[in-house]
Amino acid sequence: MSAKEQLRVAPGAALRGTLRVPGDKSISHRSLIFNGIAHGQAKVSGLLGALDVQATRRCMAQLGVQIETSGQDIVVTGRGGHLREPEDVLDCGNSGTSIRLLTGLLAGQDLYAVLTGDVHLRGRPMARVTVPLSGLGARFDGRHGGKMAPLSVRGGGLQVGRLTSKVASAQVKTALMLASLGAEGVLDYREPSLSRDHSERLFRAMGADLEMDGLGGLKVPGGQDLQAVDIQVPGDISSAAFFLVAASITPGSDLVLRGVGLNPTRDGVLHALWAMGADIQVLDKWVSGGEEIGDLRVRHAALHGTEIGGGLIPRLVDEVPVLAIAAAFATGETRFTDCAELRVKESDRLAATAAGLRALGGDVEELPEGLVVQGGSIGALSGGEVDSCGDHRIAMAFCVAACAAAAPVLVHDTANVATSFPEFPALLDSARA
Ligand code: S3P
Repeated sequence: MSAKEQLRVAPGAALRGTLRVPGDKSISHRSLIFNGIAHGQAKVSGLLGALDVQATRRCMAQLGVQIETSGQDIVVTGRGGHLREPEDVLDCGNSGTSIRLLTGLLAGQDLYAVLTGDVHLRGRPMARVTVPLSGLGARFDGRHGGKMAPLSVRGGGLQVGRLTSKVASAQVKTALMLASLGAEGVLDYREPSLSRDHSERLFRAMGADLEMDGLGGLKVPGGQDLQAVDIQVPGDISSAAFFLVAASITPGSDLVLRGVGLNPTRDGVLHALWAMGADIQVLDKWVSGGEEIGDLRVRHAALHGTEIGGGLIPRLVDEVPVLAIAAAFATGETRFTDCAELRVKESDRLAATAAGLRALGGDVEELPEGLVVQGGSIGALSGGEVDSCGDHRIAMAFCVAACAAAAPVLVHDTANVATSFPEFPALLDSARA
């Protein structure tokens, strides 16, 4: 793809048939990082093939982890607790998960490393991980007084203890959990509400001790050994969300999504859409590798406005842009609140979503920490041109908007879709064929 590719989507076609969304991005990153530091060898099936995960794979290889492709699977040979000092800068590309998780992991290692990323990642806040990790004894430097990448880390000799975070962030929590592997003491961590808990589930599956209260409190003894574990990566609900909304807003749609991860700390998009009157059924649900998975059937439905905020936000944090598209096609008002975190994602997602909706004639008010969308029914948005602002989820959300708009939508700067969901354009075409 060229750096500034465009996608043009014409309205009208219903979404039908059955599709399987690619592997969960969060679990894919963790399956490489956690197995890479563990003792033993593990097979990972269904790893997401997107650029963000490739960045993690390259960085782990630079840290001495053997990662081999074996047919459809990946085989990771763990370093047994000790990484190799990288000879060169670790480039995390666009991936916030890569840089923040690796910053935590490296803080617990007796080595020197430099982490960087693309222009968007270099503009994102890193103090949320470097400040608590510095308090444990790691030494950092970086732009803006160590708050932004490129970041250098000299790790080792950490002492963990009690830490409270102002943000509910799985990236911050996981960075501290990974740092604890090379630390003394007990990590006693609290976040304001529970963020996604894939790391806690994997720690347990890998034989580590850990206590969680289910409300954002977590205790992890330092200095534990992880044992490598085979992982079957479930489908990514954050990718499925684009199809859940596209089918909900497009008349005649009836779509089945197979093998979607339904971890309760990630399923907020289902609850938000149900509250809006969506017709989504869980056809079948099972547990594999400690994660809930299910098949979903979604049919077009008349949506209405709702309120989306509080503890629900961390459970749908990446789905707000596409839920704002659902809101534009839902009668009445939808209020998104408690969304300050959206301003520091791959773009300022509140501003990017509001700008895109306005470009298509939508009625949206931007709040400091939220959005208020006044919706309509089919054709509520006009056609037009939208800028992704360099953000994959904004690009895909506005392709979804086009499905029920009054005229075609041209989305600019969409090569970034490959960071999380390279198959998106082809899968959208196939579901609408
Ligand atoms: C992620 C956590 C979320 C999410 C990101 C992936 C993870 O970020 O937005 O796409 O893999 O831990 P925060 O935990 O910072 O909210």
